[in-house]
Amino acid sequence: MIRLAAPAKTNLFLEVPARRPDGFHELDTVFVALELADELELRPLPGGRIELQVEGGPDVPADSTNLAWRAAEALRQAAGRPELGAALRLTKRIPAGGGLGGGSSDAAAVLRGLDRLWETGLGAARLHALAAGLGSDVPFFLAGGLQRGRGRGERLEPLPRPPRPLDLVLVLPGFPCPTPQVYRELAPWLPGPEGPRSPAPLLAALAAGDPEAVGAELWNRLALPAFARWPRLSELERMLRARPGVTGALLSGSGSTLFALCASTDAAAGLATALGREGLTALATRTSHPEASSD
Ligand code: C5P
Repeated sequence: MIRLAAPAKTNLFLEVPARRPDGFHELDTVFVALELADELELRPLPGGRIELQVEGGPDVPADSTNLAWRAAEALRQAAGRPELGAALRLTKRIPAGGGLGGGSSDAAAVLRGLDRLWETGLGAARLHALAAGLGSDVPFFLAGGLQRGRGRGERLEPLPRPPRPLDLVLVLPGFPCPTPQVYRELAPWLPGPEGPRSPAPLLAALAAGDPEAVGAELWNRLALPAFARWPRLSELERMLRARPGVTGALLSGSGSTLFALCASTDAAAGLATALGREGLTALATRTSHPEASSD
C-alpha cells in the first residue's frame, strides 16, 4: 500500500499573454503548492480492476469520470499492461471547483504512486506527457513546490525555495467559477499594446522572503473577467486587502477561492478565525516546499 499527500495549489502570479490557435491560452504563471492537501491510498488489485472510494467530497464523482481514475487508466495504457489494477481511496480536504487544483493534484498523485506500485519504469518524461494530457495543471503537481509555468502551464521551471513558507488564508465564496467560462470571457481583458506583465518583481520579492513585497506584486489576469461576472469576488478581495496583517489578496487560479497573503502565521490564524465568525468559510494554510523543489 502507498499513501500520498496531494497538495492544493494557488497561483501567486498568472498572466495570459495571448489566446492560442488550439483554443487554450498561453500562460506565464507562478504556481505554489499549499500545506492543505487531499490524501490518497493506493493498493494493487488483480485482473485489471480499478476501484475508487471518495471520502469527504460529496460532489466528487467516485467513478471513471474522476481525473484520478483516468490517470490510473492512462498510466497502465502507456505502460502497455492492461492487467494492472488498483484500489484508490481518496480523502478530500481541498474544496472542489475552487481554483485550488484539487482534481489535478489527485491525478498527479495517482501517477506518482501507481508508477511506483506498478513499477512501470516509464520515466519522468513519459509521466510528464501523461500528466499534461490529463490537464494543464497536472504536470506542476508531479514535483510541486514553487514553479514558473508557461505554455498551457505544462512547461515548468522550478524556482528557488523561498527563505520561509508564506502564510495565507483561503476564502471560499460558496459558488463555483467554471474554468472554461472564465477563459471564454477573458478576450476583452487580454493585454493590450502595453503587453503582458512580467513576473520578475514577484520572483525577486519571493527570493527576498518579504511578504509585504510579495503581497504588492500578486497578479491574476483571470480575476478581470471573474470580477466582471461575479462582483461579489471583487468585494471580497477589497475587504481582505483592508484587513490588518494582510499584505495582498488575489483570486486563486480561475476562482472562486480567494486568498489573503498574511505577514505572519499568527496574522493568518487570527484572520481565519475572524472571517469564520463573520460567517465566511476561511482556512489558514501555508505554502509547501518539498526538498526536491529547492535548488
Ligand atoms: O487543461 P484543463 O482541462 O485544466 O483546462 C480547462 C479549461 O480551461 C480548458 O478547456 C480551457 O477552456 C481553459 N484553459 C485555457 N488555457 C489554459 C488552461 C486552461 O484556455 N492554459
